[in-house]
Amino acid sequence: MLEQLAQLETEALQSLEEARTLEDLDRWYHAYLGRKGALTAILRSVGSLPPEERPVVGQRANEIKQRLEAAYNARAEGVRQDQLARELEAGALDVTLPGRPVGSGHLHITTRTLRQIYAIFAEMGFQVYEARDVETDEMNFGLLNMPPHHPAREMWDTFWISERATHASPLLLRTHTSPGQIRVMRERYPEPIRVILPGKCYRYEQITARSEHQFFQVEGLAVGRRITMTDLIGTLTAFARRFYGAERRIRIRGSYFPFTEPSIEADIDCILCGGKGCRVCKYSGWLEIAGAGMVHPVVLSNGGYNPDEWSGFAFGLGVERPAMLKYGIDDIRLFYSNDLRFLRQFG
Ligand code: PHE
Repeated sequence: MLEQLAQLETEALQSLEEARTLEDLDRWYHAYLGRKGALTAILRSVGSLPPEERPVVGQRANEIKQRLEAAYNARAEGVRQDQLARELEAGALDVTLPGRPVGSGHLHITTRTLRQIYAIFAEMGFQVYEARDVETDEMNFGLLNMPPHHPAREMWDTFWISERATHASPLLLRTHTSPGQIRVMRERYPEPIRVILPGKCYRYEQITARSEHQFFQVEGLAVGRRITMTDLIGTLTAFARRFYGAERRIRIRGSYFPFTEPSIEADIDCILCGGKGCRVCKYSGWLEIAGAGMVHPVVLSNGGYNPDEWSGFAFGLGVERPAMLKYGIDDIRLFYSNDLRFLRQFG
């Protein structure tokens, strides 16, 4: 028995020397020290030896077990180091390889269009002012001369944030940038005003190729002592020629908004057909670019300006539509659906 043990030890230590990988080590452990290992079998059989042999064999077997375990641990550490070294070697970084280029991003087409609009109005002395997206019913409608139940509210399908019944002035997502007119007037009084108010607007409506339920507008507001309709038309004409091209003609039509009096809509001759009539202008020869008008006396006084002394004009420009016309985009949904194939064209 003792001889058999000695032989087992020699053999085990030898084969341990040959283990190169963690898998080899595993196999070795199972073969000798595992539940079904050779040494474990001997240790188990000690009980069936004649009583006088048991202590000697038992003691030897336990000594060997301890030595093999120590040898195993040492070897395992060595194998792990080797394996790590091999892996590091194989995956070595070649710092002389050329790097992968990091593509730079670019502005979104809406941001670019907004900045073009800011630049044009900046030249005419308009400052950029931002109002809030979440508004009160009062700002979005009431103070703009649309009391509750005013039929003109029908023009703006609204996302409500709070219950209409329980609040004095319920919250909503602004349906247009016009509430910013009131905010600027209240902040600037009694200074004259010349600002544009860009921002996102929200309308509870069906999404189609021509209308999104979120879109940008740029509101314009000028308030002063002797501001007239001529100033408004001049400003819109100057804008249209800078934005769409110097040859543009502008057409003014009468319109209706509760917060302007008189109200107008401004069209440009179609940038595609020059007024002859085509698919883009629906064969009318004209494209609408803005709703506008002279600030209604009620709105001026809601902003703190006495309408007997002050007058003003306001306009609301779209942002996505003009970009669509300029770049020949036929579906507004492309703007915010994050298809890079579309967006990358405007880098
Ligand atoms: N707020 C109007 C709209 O959303 C546009 C507008 C702005 C009209 C300012 C007149 C003056 O349709």
